[in-house]
Amino acid sequence: MSLESEALRRIKPSPTIGISAKARALKAEGKDVIALSAGEPDFDTPDNIKEAAIRAIREGKTKYTDPDGCPELKAAICGKFERENGLTYKPSQIHVAPGGKPVIYNALVATLNPGDEVVIPAPYWVSYPDMVLLAGGVPVPVETTADCGFKLKAADLEAAITPRTKWLILNSPSNPSGGAYTRKELQDIADVLLRHPHVWVLTDDMYEHLVFDDFEFTTIVQVEPRLYERTLTMNGVSKAYAMTGWRIGYAGGPEPLIKAMAKMISQTTSNPSSISQWAAIEALNGPQDFIKPHQKLFQERRDLVVSMLNQASGIKCPTPEGAFYVYPSIEGLIGKTAPTGKPITSDEDFACELLEAEGVAVVHGAAFGLSPFFRISYATANEVLEDACSRIQRFCAEVR
Ligand SMILES: Cc1ncc(COP(=O)(O)O)c(C=O)c1O
Repeated sequence: MSLESEALRRIKPSPTIGISAKARALKAEGKDVIALSAGEPDFDTPDNIKEAAIRAIREGKTKYTDPDGCPELKAAICGKFERENGLTYKPSQIHVAPGGKPVIYNALVATLNPGDEVVIPAPYWVSYPDMVLLAGGVPVPVETTADCGFKLKAADLEAAITPRTKWLILNSPSNPSGGAYTRKELQDIADVLLRHPHVWVLTDDMYEHLVFDDFEFTTIVQVEPRLYERTLTMNGVSKAYAMTGWRIGYAGGPEPLIKAMAKMISQTTSNPSSISQWAAIEALNGPQDFIKPHQKLFQERRDLVVSMLNQASGIKCPTPEGAFYVYPSIEGLIGKTAPTGKPITSDEDFACELLEAEGVAVVHGAAFGLSPFFRISYATANEVLEDACSRIQRFCAEVR
């Protein structure tokens, strides 16, 4: 008899975490490795946020809180949704969990029955399909194209919806493509959803604050308020405030869904760290002047990486609107031979050979459900990016 449950056997370990671990292990062996695989900002949590956490410890705010977040954090989140997204939620409509990832998982476990389908535009963040599988649902990936910025088209959504569709997961700006939906693109999707009232929407707005070239971020309920009663608007402090290790994610949604999610965590995780909650309160209520300079920095890095990758033979790199990822095509390299002498038959081969030959760790597109591409996280210093992109150029020049 297998130790692992059937549910667990349906999923695989996160490939992005796996590749980052492999890169760390190679580094520990003394190899010269540049890891562009991890999705986290390379700067530190701002001091005012750290101080708020230290204060919380000193003031004894170190006990259990309500399982889905303390009232002060829920109030701060309501304020954030109102101020930044024009969305009105009551505290009873807010769910807080140890990161954005558990918020999504809690929503899926609380709502999916066996066989319920979840439409997921591809390329997708690696965890969506596996979380759906773990919750007993059926992921329904819908491929997008580089030509439409890796964004879901209304007609493709329409074709994917069946009577078993429970959720559509939207992620804008996207991990891994960096693509972000315009108001018009969201309205087209909303128009389809209005014709299918049984479909709920989970919008993952984790990268909201990382948009470039004056792109105006909007979230689907802002564009189509008639979806308010069946949308979970999810967000978190991990990326915007460089707080990946603090583990706070949150969402606003209709009360019955939020109650169902609270019921679930009351018997599982209970509350996220009380100290991290106080840090998140400061992040949301405190000065926001930290965000703009980082946006500018990331935009410079995006431009550097896009320009250098487009000079590598066989690679085509679109310019994304946001997040800190690019998702270049390697179509021009498929069927050729790597400098190591091995054939490149897939994006996984490309990523393996690149790591082997040049010590650059990237994530292959198959992990995100759309090939032949790869993902680079450019949340690292310019010199490191220049070095990595030069190595990629050299690798591609040596492909025959
Ligand atoms: C699109 C997307 N959603 C959610 C998350 C999860 O964020 P957290 O670290 O807060 O769990 C990530 C993290 O990489 C992400 O890229």
